[in-house]
Amino acid sequence: MSSFSSLASTAKRLAGKVAIITGGASGIGEITSRLFVEHGAKVIVADVQDQAGQSLCKELGSEDNVFYVHCDVTRDADVKNVVDVAISRYGKLDIMFNNAGIAGNTDPTVLGTDNEDFKRVFEVNVYGGFLGAKHAARVMIPVKKGVIIFTSSVASVACGESSHAYTMSKHAVVGLMKNLCVELGQHGIRVNCISPCALATPLLRNAMGADKSFVEHVVCESANLKGVVPSPKDVAEAALYLGGDESKYVSGLNLMVDGGYSTTNQSFTTVLRNMLS
Ligand SMILES: NC(=O)c1ccc[n+]([C@@H]2O[C@H](COP(=O)([O-])OP(=O)(O)OC[C@H]3O[C@@H](n4cnc5c(N)ncnc54)[C@H](O)[C@@H]3O)[C@@H](O)[C@H]2O)c1
Repeated sequence: MSSFSSLASTAKRLAGKVAIITGGASGIGEITSRLFVEHGAKVIVADVQDQAGQSLCKELGSEDNVFYVHCDVTRDADVKNVVDVAISRYGKLDIMFNNAGIAGNTDPTVLGTDNEDFKRVFEVNVYGGFLGAKHAARVMIPVKKGVIIFTSSVASVACGESSHAYTMSKHAVVGLMKNLCVELGQHGIRVNCISPCALATPLLRNAMGADKSFVEHVVCESANLKGVVPSPKDVAEAALYLGGDESKYVSGLNLMVDGGYSTTNQSFTTVLRNMLS
Protein backbone atom coordinates (compact mmCIF):
# COMPACT_ATOMS: atom_id res chain seq x y z
CA MET A 1 0.00 0.00 0.00
CA SER A 2 2.80 2.41 0.93
CA SER A 3 4.66 1.76 -2.35
CA PHE A 4 1.39 2.34 -4.22
CA SER A 5 0.85 5.72 -2.53
CA SER A 6 4.39 6.83 -3.19
CA LEU A 7 4.04 5.79 -6.85
CA ALA A 8 0.74 7.70 -7.12
CA SER A 9 2.24 10.84 -5.63
CA THR A 10 5.32 10.83 -7.86
CA ALA A 11 3.75 9.72 -11.15
CA LYS A 12 3.61 12.40 -13.83
CA ARG A 13 -0.11 12.46 -14.49
CA LEU A 14 0.04 14.86 -17.45
CA ALA A 15 3.10 13.49 -19.21
CA GLY A 16 2.96 14.29 -22.92
CA LYS A 17 0.01 16.66 -22.63
CA VAL A 18 -0.09 20.28 -23.76
CA ALA A 19 -2.07 22.84 -21.75
CA ILE A 20 -2.97 26.50 -22.00
CA ILE A 21 -3.78 28.22 -18.71
CA THR A 22 -5.37 31.65 -18.99
CA GLY A 23 -4.80 33.92 -16.03
CA GLY A 24 -1.75 31.70 -15.54
CA ALA A 25 0.50 34.40 -14.09
CA SER A 26 -1.20 34.77 -10.71
CA GLY A 27 -3.25 33.03 -8.04
CA ILE A 28 -5.02 29.82 -9.06
CA GLY A 29 -3.58 29.95 -12.59
CA GLU A 30 -0.02 30.32 -11.34
CA ILE A 31 -0.29 27.41 -8.92
CA THR A 32 -1.94 25.28 -11.62
CA SER A 33 0.85 26.14 -14.06
CA ARG A 34 3.38 24.97 -11.46
CA LEU A 35 1.48 21.72 -10.78
CA PHE A 36 0.93 20.95 -14.47
CA VAL A 37 4.65 21.41 -15.25
CA GLU A 38 5.52 19.23 -12.24
CA HIS A 39 3.25 16.56 -13.74
CA GLY A 40 5.01 16.59 -17.09
CA ALA A 41 2.72 18.83 -19.14
CA LYS A 42 3.97 21.39 -21.60
CA VAL A 43 2.30 24.58 -20.43
CA ILE A 44 1.50 27.88 -22.07
CA VAL A 45 0.89 30.58 -19.52
CA ALA A 46 -1.51 33.12 -21.05
CA ASP A 47 -2.09 36.39 -19.25
CA VAL A 48 -1.93 40.16 -19.50
CA GLN A 49 0.63 40.44 -16.69
CA ASP A 50 3.67 40.01 -18.92
CA GLN A 51 6.39 40.44 -16.33
CA ALA A 52 4.84 38.06 -13.81
CA GLY A 53 4.09 35.50 -16.54
CA GLN A 54 7.56 35.65 -18.02
CA SER A 55 9.36 35.33 -14.71
CA LEU A 56 7.12 32.41 -13.70
CA CYS A 57 7.97 30.58 -16.94
CA LYS A 58 11.67 31.27 -16.49
CA GLU A 59 11.49 29.80 -13.01
CA LEU A 60 9.55 26.72 -14.16
CA GLY A 61 11.80 25.55 -16.98
CA SER A 62 12.92 26.14 -20.52
CA GLU A 63 10.82 27.11 -23.54
CA ASP A 64 10.77 23.40 -24.39
CA ASN A 65 8.17 22.86 -21.69
CA VAL A 66 6.75 26.18 -20.53
CA PHE A 67 6.11 29.36 -22.48
CA TYR A 68 4.49 32.71 -21.79
CA VAL A 69 2.15 34.32 -24.32
CA HIS A 70 0.52 37.71 -23.83
CA CYS A 71 -3.20 37.08 -24.20
CA ASP A 72 -6.09 39.33 -23.31
CA VAL A 73 -8.92 36.80 -23.22
CA THR A 74 -11.42 39.45 -24.37
CA ARG A 75 -9.56 39.85 -27.69
CA ASP A 76 -10.36 37.21 -30.29
CA ALA A 77 -7.01 37.74 -32.06
CA ASP A 78 -5.08 37.16 -28.82
CA VAL A 79 -6.96 33.98 -27.98
CA LYS A 80 -6.61 32.68 -31.55
CA ASN A 81 -2.89 33.43 -31.33
CA VAL A 82 -2.27 31.59 -28.06
CA VAL A 83 -3.97 28.46 -29.41
CA ASP A 84 -1.99 28.73 -32.64
CA VAL A 85 1.23 29.06 -30.60
CA ALA A 86 0.37 25.84 -28.74
CA ILE A 87 0.02 24.05 -32.08
CA SER A 88 3.10 25.51 -33.74
CA ARG A 89 5.34 25.12 -30.67
CA TYR A 90 4.10 21.88 -29.10
CA GLY A 91 2.08 20.28 -31.92
CA LYS A 92 -1.32 20.01 -30.21
CA LEU A 93 -3.62 21.23 -27.45
CA ASP A 94 -4.91 18.72 -24.90
CA ILE A 95 -6.14 20.98 -22.08
CA MET A 96 -7.62 24.47 -22.30
CA PHE A 97 -8.01 25.91 -18.81
CA ASN A 98 -10.15 29.06 -19.09
CA ASN A 99 -9.31 30.46 -15.69
CA ALA A 100 -8.75 34.20 -16.17
CA GLY A 101 -11.29 36.28 -14.33
CA ILE A 102 -11.89 39.52 -12.51
CA ALA A 103 -13.97 40.42 -9.48
CA GLY A 104 -15.09 43.84 -10.68
CA ASN A 105 -16.61 46.28 -8.23
CA THR A 106 -17.70 44.60 -5.04
CA ASP A 107 -20.86 46.66 -4.39
CA PRO A 108 -23.49 43.92 -3.94
CA THR A 109 -26.50 46.17 -4.57
CA VAL A 110 -28.40 46.52 -7.81
CA LEU A 111 -28.60 50.30 -7.47
CA GLY A 112 -24.90 50.56 -6.71
CA THR A 113 -23.90 48.53 -9.79
CA ASP A 114 -21.80 50.47 -12.24
CA ASN A 115 -22.94 49.62 -15.78
CA GLU A 116 -19.48 49.77 -17.37
CA ASP A 117 -18.03 47.58 -14.63
CA PHE A 118 -20.89 45.11 -15.14
CA LYS A 119 -20.05 44.85 -18.86
CA ARG A 120 -16.33 44.43 -18.15
CA VAL A 121 -16.94 41.56 -15.70
CA PHE A 122 -19.01 39.80 -18.36
CA GLU A 123 -16.46 40.55 -21.04
CA VAL A 124 -13.60 38.91 -19.13
CA ASN A 125 -15.38 36.16 -17.18
CA VAL A 126 -17.92 35.04 -19.80
CA TYR A 127 -16.90 36.23 -23.27
CA GLY A 128 -13.23 35.54 -22.47
CA GLY A 129 -14.07 31.98 -21.46
CA PHE A 130 -16.22 31.57 -24.55
CA LEU A 131 -13.39 32.67 -26.84
CA GLY A 132 -11.01 30.27 -25.09
CA ALA A 133 -13.43 27.40 -25.64
CA LYS A 134 -14.12 28.42 -29.24
CA HIS A 135 -10.47 28.47 -30.30
CA ALA A 136 -9.69 25.33 -28.32
CA ALA A 137 -12.59 23.54 -30.02
CA ARG A 138 -11.24 24.67 -33.41
CA VAL A 139 -8.12 22.53 -32.90
CA MET A 140 -9.64 19.79 -30.71
CA ILE A 141 -12.61 18.84 -32.94
CA PRO A 142 -10.47 17.61 -35.87
CA VAL A 143 -8.46 15.29 -33.58
CA LYS A 144 -11.59 14.21 -31.67
CA LYS A 145 -10.16 14.73 -28.20
CA GLY A 146 -9.35 17.36 -25.64
CA VAL A 147 -10.39 18.80 -22.33
CA ILE A 148 -11.84 22.25 -21.66
CA ILE A 149 -12.00 23.45 -18.07
CA PHE A 150 -13.44 26.71 -16.74
CA THR A 151 -12.95 28.34 -13.38
CA SER A 152 -16.39 29.32 -12.15
CA SER A 153 -17.01 30.02 -8.45
CA VAL A 154 -19.00 29.10 -5.39
CA ALA A 155 -21.05 32.11 -6.55
CA SER A 156 -22.41 29.85 -9.30
CA VAL A 157 -24.35 27.99 -6.61
CA ALA A 158 -24.57 30.13 -3.46
CA CYS A 159 -25.95 33.61 -4.07
CA GLY A 160 -25.95 36.92 -2.27
CA GLU A 161 -22.29 37.25 -1.33
CA SER A 162 -20.87 38.78 -4.52
CA SER A 163 -21.89 41.55 -6.90
CA HIS A 164 -24.71 40.83 -9.33
CA ALA A 165 -22.28 40.96 -12.24
CA TYR A 166 -19.86 38.47 -10.70
CA THR A 167 -22.59 36.05 -9.56
CA MET A 168 -24.31 36.21 -12.95
CA SER A 169 -21.04 35.78 -14.82
CA LYS A 170 -20.15 32.65 -12.88
CA HIS A 171 -23.64 31.19 -13.45
CA ALA A 172 -23.16 31.94 -17.14
CA VAL A 173 -19.84 30.09 -17.17
CA VAL A 174 -21.59 26.98 -15.84
CA GLY A 175 -24.30 27.35 -18.52
CA LEU A 176 -21.63 27.65 -21.18
CA MET A 177 -19.82 24.60 -19.83
CA LYS A 178 -23.01 22.51 -19.93
CA ASN A 179 -23.96 23.61 -23.44
CA LEU A 180 -20.44 22.90 -24.68
CA CYS A 181 -20.41 19.54 -22.90
CA VAL A 182 -23.38 18.45 -25.00
CA GLU A 183 -22.09 19.80 -28.31
CA LEU A 184 -18.46 18.78 -27.92
CA GLY A 185 -19.15 15.37 -26.39
CA GLN A 186 -19.99 14.32 -29.96
CA HIS A 187 -16.35 15.05 -30.79
CA GLY A 188 -14.79 13.27 -27.82
CA ILE A 189 -14.09 16.51 -25.96
CA ARG A 190 -14.80 16.78 -22.24
CA VAL A 191 -15.93 20.09 -20.70
CA ASN A 192 -16.05 20.79 -16.98
CA CYS A 193 -16.01 23.61 -14.41
CA ILE A 194 -14.24 24.02 -11.11
CA SER A 195 -15.95 26.22 -8.54
CA PRO A 196 -13.66 27.36 -5.75
CA CYS A 197 -14.71 29.03 -2.54
CA ALA A 198 -13.08 32.24 -1.35
CA LEU A 199 -9.27 32.05 -1.55
CA ALA A 200 -6.68 34.59 -0.50
CA THR A 201 -5.37 35.27 -4.03
CA PRO A 202 -4.63 38.80 -5.29
CA LEU A 203 -8.17 38.91 -6.75
CA LEU A 204 -9.89 38.54 -3.38
CA ARG A 205 -7.21 40.36 -1.36
CA ASN A 206 -7.64 43.40 -3.60
CA ALA A 207 -11.44 43.12 -3.59
CA MET A 208 -11.46 43.00 0.22
CA GLY A 209 -8.57 45.45 0.63
CA ALA A 210 -7.06 43.01 3.10
CA ASP A 211 -3.90 40.96 3.52
CA LYS A 212 -3.59 37.19 3.14
CA SER A 213 -3.85 36.32 6.82
CA PHE A 214 -6.99 38.42 7.36
CA VAL A 215 -8.69 36.91 4.29
CA GLU A 216 -7.75 33.40 5.40
CA HIS A 217 -9.06 34.10 8.89
CA VAL A 218 -12.45 35.18 7.53
CA VAL A 219 -12.55 32.22 5.13
CA CYS A 220 -11.77 29.72 7.89
CA GLU A 221 -14.19 31.25 10.38
CA SER A 222 -17.04 31.05 7.83
CA ALA A 223 -16.04 27.66 6.43
CA ASN A 224 -18.17 24.56 6.68
CA LEU A 225 -15.16 22.23 6.69
CA LYS A 226 -12.91 22.98 9.62
CA GLY A 227 -9.22 22.26 10.10
CA VAL A 228 -8.13 23.22 6.58
CA VAL A 229 -6.96 26.52 5.17
CA PRO A 230 -8.16 26.38 1.55
CA SER A 231 -5.58 27.38 -1.02
CA PRO A 232 -5.19 27.71 -4.80
CA LYS A 233 -3.39 24.34 -4.71
CA ASP A 234 -6.73 22.69 -3.91
CA VAL A 235 -8.13 24.11 -7.15
CA ALA A 236 -4.99 23.16 -9.08
CA GLU A 237 -5.39 19.56 -7.85
CA ALA A 238 -8.96 19.57 -9.18
CA ALA A 239 -7.69 20.88 -12.53
CA LEU A 240 -5.04 18.14 -12.55
CA TYR A 241 -7.78 15.55 -12.08
CA LEU A 242 -10.07 17.04 -14.73
CA GLY A 243 -7.21 17.61 -17.17
CA GLY A 244 -5.80 14.11 -16.79
CA ASP A 245 -6.94 10.69 -17.92
CA GLU A 246 -8.20 9.74 -14.43
CA SER A 247 -11.35 11.73 -15.31
CA LYS A 248 -11.72 10.34 -18.83
CA TYR A 249 -15.49 9.78 -18.42
CA VAL A 250 -16.23 12.98 -16.49
CA SER A 251 -17.93 15.74 -18.45
CA GLY A 252 -20.57 18.35 -17.66
CA LEU A 253 -19.48 18.61 -14.03
CA ASN A 254 -19.35 21.76 -11.91
CA LEU A 255 -16.82 20.50 -9.36
CA MET A 256 -17.24 22.43 -6.11
CA VAL A 257 -13.97 22.94 -4.25
CA ASP A 258 -15.56 24.69 -1.31
CA GLY A 259 -15.41 22.29 1.64
CA GLY A 260 -19.19 21.96 1.46
CA TYR A 261 -19.77 25.71 1.94
CA SER A 262 -22.45 25.89 -0.74
CA THR A 263 -24.21 22.83 0.67
CA THR A 264 -25.17 24.42 3.94
CA ASN A 265 -26.74 27.57 5.30
CA GLN A 266 -26.59 27.67 9.08
CA SER A 267 -27.75 31.25 9.59
CA PHE A 268 -30.93 30.09 11.39
CA THR A 269 -28.97 27.94 13.84
CA THR A 270 -26.34 30.63 14.36
CA VAL A 271 -28.95 33.30 15.12
CA LEU A 272 -30.79 30.95 17.46
CA ARG A 273 -27.58 29.95 19.25
CA ASN A 274 -26.56 33.59 19.66
CA MET A 275 -30.02 34.48 21.03
CA LEU A 276 -29.97 31.63 23.51
CA SER A 277 -26.39 32.13 24.70
N1 LIG B 1 -9.86 33.96 -5.30
C1 LIG B 1 -11.10 33.59 -5.08
O1 LIG B 1 -11.63 33.76 -3.98
C2 LIG B 1 -11.90 32.94 -6.17
C3 LIG B 1 -13.04 32.21 -5.82
C4 LIG B 1 -13.80 31.61 -6.82
C5 LIG B 1 -13.43 31.75 -8.14
N2 LIG B 1 -12.31 32.47 -8.46
C6 LIG B 1 -11.98 32.59 -9.87
O2 LIG B 1 -10.69 32.05 -10.08
C7 LIG B 1 -10.12 32.59 -11.26
C8 LIG B 1 -8.70 33.00 -10.99
O3 LIG B 1 -8.70 34.04 -10.04
P1 LIG B 1 -7.60 34.19 -8.89
O4 LIG B 1 -8.32 34.18 -7.60
O5 LIG B 1 -6.49 33.27 -9.11
O6 LIG B 1 -7.19 35.73 -9.13
P2 LIG B 1 -5.84 36.42 -9.60
O7 LIG B 1 -6.18 37.86 -9.72
O8 LIG B 1 -4.71 36.02 -8.73
O9 LIG B 1 -5.57 35.79 -11.04
C9 LIG B 1 -6.36 36.13 -12.14
C10 LIG B 1 -5.44 36.26 -13.35
O10 LIG B 1 -6.27 36.55 -14.49
C11 LIG B 1 -5.59 37.51 -15.26
N3 LIG B 1 -6.52 38.26 -16.10
C12 LIG B 1 -7.43 39.18 -15.72
N4 LIG B 1 -8.03 39.70 -16.81
C13 LIG B 1 -7.49 39.09 -17.89
C14 LIG B 1 -7.68 39.19 -19.28
N5 LIG B 1 -8.56 40.05 -19.80
N6 LIG B 1 -6.95 38.40 -20.08
C15 LIG B 1 -6.06 37.52 -19.58
N7 LIG B 1 -5.81 37.39 -18.28
C16 LIG B 1 -6.52 38.17 -17.44
C17 LIG B 1 -4.91 38.42 -14.24
O11 LIG B 1 -3.86 39.17 -14.83
C18 LIG B 1 -4.43 37.41 -13.21
O12 LIG B 1 -3.13 36.95 -13.51
C19 LIG B 1 -11.04 33.73 -11.67
O13 LIG B 1 -11.88 33.30 -12.73
C20 LIG B 1 -11.86 33.98 -10.42
O14 LIG B 1 -13.12 34.55 -10.72
C21 LIG B 1 -11.54 33.04 -7.51
